[in-house]
Amino acid sequence: MYYNVFYYRSFNIRFLYCSSFIVVYGICMWSLGYITSSSLETQPTIMTLSKTIDNKYPFISKAIQQRLLILGQKYVHLNISQFTSTSMKTKTLTYLCESHCGGWGDRLRGITSVYILAILTNRHFMINMNYPCDLKNFLQPNIYDWTWKPSKNLNRKKLYLDTLRNKYRDDLYFNISKRNFIQHWSEYDDIFLTTNSDYITPALNNSYLSDIIVKLNIKQSDSNQKNLFSFIFEILFRPTFKITNIVDDILKLLYLSNSTMICFHIRIGKNPTIPSDTLLYNRSSIVKDMINFVDKNILNSNINNLIFVTGDSKTSISEILHHYPKSSITVTGPIVHIDRFDKSINNDNICHGFSKVIAEFYLLGECNTSLLSYSGFSAWANRRRTDEFKNLYLYCRGVKKVTGPTWRRPHTIC
Ligand SMILES: *[C@@H]1O[C@H](CO)[C@@H](O)[C@H](O)[C@H]1NC(C)=O
Ligand SMILES: *[C@@H]1O[C@H](CO)[C@@H](O)[C@H](O)[C@H]1NC(C)=O
Ligand SMILES: *[C@@H]1O[C@H](CO)[C@@H](O)[C@H](O)[C@H]1NC(C)=O
Ligand SMILES: *[C@@H]1O[C@H](CO)[C@@H](O)[C@H](O)[C@H]1NC(C)=O
Ligand SMILES: *[C@@H]1O[C@H](CO)[C@@H](O)[C@H](O)[C@H]1NC(C)=O
Ligand SMILES: *[C@@H]1O[C@H](CO)[C@@H](O)[C@H](O)[C@H]1NC(C)=O
Repeated sequence: MYYNVFYYRSFNIRFLYCSSFIVVYGICMWSLGYITSSSLETQPTIMTLSKTIDNKYPFISKAIQQRLLILGQKYVHLNISQFTSTSMKTKTLTYLCESHCGGWGDRLRGITSVYILAILTNRHFMINMNYPCDLKNFLQPNIYDWTWKPSKNLNRKKLYLDTLRNKYRDDLYFNISKRNFIQHWSEYDDIFLTTNSDYITPALNNSYLSDIIVKLNIKQSDSNQKNLFSFIFEILFRPTFKITNIVDDILKLLYLSNSTMICFHIRIGKNPTIPSDTLLYNRSSIVKDMINFVDKNILNSNINNLIFVTGDSKTSISEILHHYPKSSITVTGPIVHIDRFDKSINNDNICHGFSKVIAEFYLLGECNTSLLSYSGFSAWANRRRTDEFKNLYLYCRGVKKVTGPTWRRPHTIC
């Protein structure tokens, strides 16, 4: 039922809003046999279901459209109606973040886990995140409407699970991987989960859920959080104008100069810019090492290079901007860790810092070459790159080339 409604709506959207480029591309792909006629005609895709970005921001809009086209092909087998349907669900599962719940990388791990658990347990998924400021300032629902709407009915039975403050993190993991936890959950109307764990990978291997997993049609090789992330992220989110504004300016510069973008994410941990952060070791020469590496191995004088810099230390960022005075760029604004900010910073600055984090997250998805520090934030951002392991480097007492999904950083040293 719902499926048909979506189909007709997306059919209209396709004709009303799609640029001719996409239609032509679609027909080409179809004639080349990349899209089977049945998938083109009957199955809505992540692209046809997505809301479009305002024409005022043509560069980010184009980048997102291209990404959706690729995701649509890569995950064409997924039963998308299972991922997007919000109808007929009276029970809820909410990702809750009202105070300490990790940085943006941790939160993405939690949000995507709770979303998949909601799909698997047939509950309506919502996000309640107002810490340190309302997520909806930066990201709004794309295909799945996760808007937080509290129930006014006091008789509804609630369960709060918080794995950041309680010791049952592993117990919950065990339940989600091996037990019939849906039965345990069934007595509750509204469940709230605060977590930064991956519960997607264990849930998709739980034999009690095999019927619904078969309906989702997820390949065995994609039955984990890392491989599903880029698909889930686009289903859930699209940027607000606060973010598109920042990102579009930088992409405009990139595309109009026909440049290739080389990205630096420098995470050094506790430093004068973020004194409340945790101490990370062996990063004292990270800036020097990365610059030397790029100058020696990456820069190509025959093409235009745009160096995009982000990080947690003002000093490190300035060093890189000074080293590439004519070709480097950063997102301006306060540098904050959204979970470990200095309590003396005023709220406007924290929110401004949060918008910078989200804008940088989008930009790190557009790099042609990436030099990253070990961090959940940039690891998830990198998952959004079209070819995520192409020209990818990780800092670990020197710059290491990441060669593919099975590449392991030496955990003992960085
Ligand atoms: C795990 O499942 C058991 C059995 O259903 C239940 O008693 C326990 O509370 C569950 N643990 C968590 C953290 O949900
Ligand atoms: C999935 O579950 C099976 C059986 O419980 C187990 O042998 C296997 O290691 C699990 N796979 C993953 C990826 O957790
Ligand atoms: C896809 O999901 C729908 C419900 O949303 C279900 O009716 C259908 O059987 C599923 N398709 C496959 C191939 O499992
Ligand atoms: C853009 O750069 C690429 C090489 O990076 C080159 O092949 C192409 O011709 C350039 N296009 C324009 C319009 O300058
Ligand atoms: C890395 O950090 C550890 C812990 O501070 C220290 O013992 C070690 O000497 C450092 N190694 C290098 C190569 O800097
Ligand atoms: C850089 O990446 C963008 C977006 O992924 C792509 O369109 C462009 O062709 C790439 N440029 C080069 C020189 O690889």
